[in-house]
Amino acid sequence: MFTRILVCCAMIACACRATAADLDAGKAKVQQICSKCHEAADWKGQSEAQIQGKIQGVLAGKTKHPKKLDLTDADVANIAAYWASTTG
Ligand code: HEC
Repeated sequence: MFTRILVCCAMIACACRATAADLDAGKAKVQQICSKCHEAADWKGQSEAQIQGKIQGVLAGKTKHPKKLDLTDADVANIAAYWASTTG
């Protein structure tokens, strides 16, 4: 009985994590595109939400950027989560 409740909880926890930002995917994108010019220190002290807002600013053309970025909302969330997790 208890085991069954525990298994159930674990499954719910897993499902939640799957919809949250994916740090590994963010890291892969950063290494593939951004790390040519950016390092994690560029985002020091900034929260995930702040970084996300800045990337959205670039995508919207509000922030000048030397490279045109082609990112999905999920990419932006993952990259912001990754950078926020690396800088502290
Ligand atoms: C060709 C080099 C280059 C690449 C590749 C690059 N950037 Fe940049 N980025 C820059 C430069 C240069 C700036 C301006 C830096 C400054 O003003 O201090 C900048 C600025 C930014 C800013 C605005 C920072 C701020 O404080 O307002 C964001 C956000 C950003 N880049 C995100 C990204 C992301 C995300 C990627 C990868 C998907 C990426 N950049 C890839 C060169 C690059």
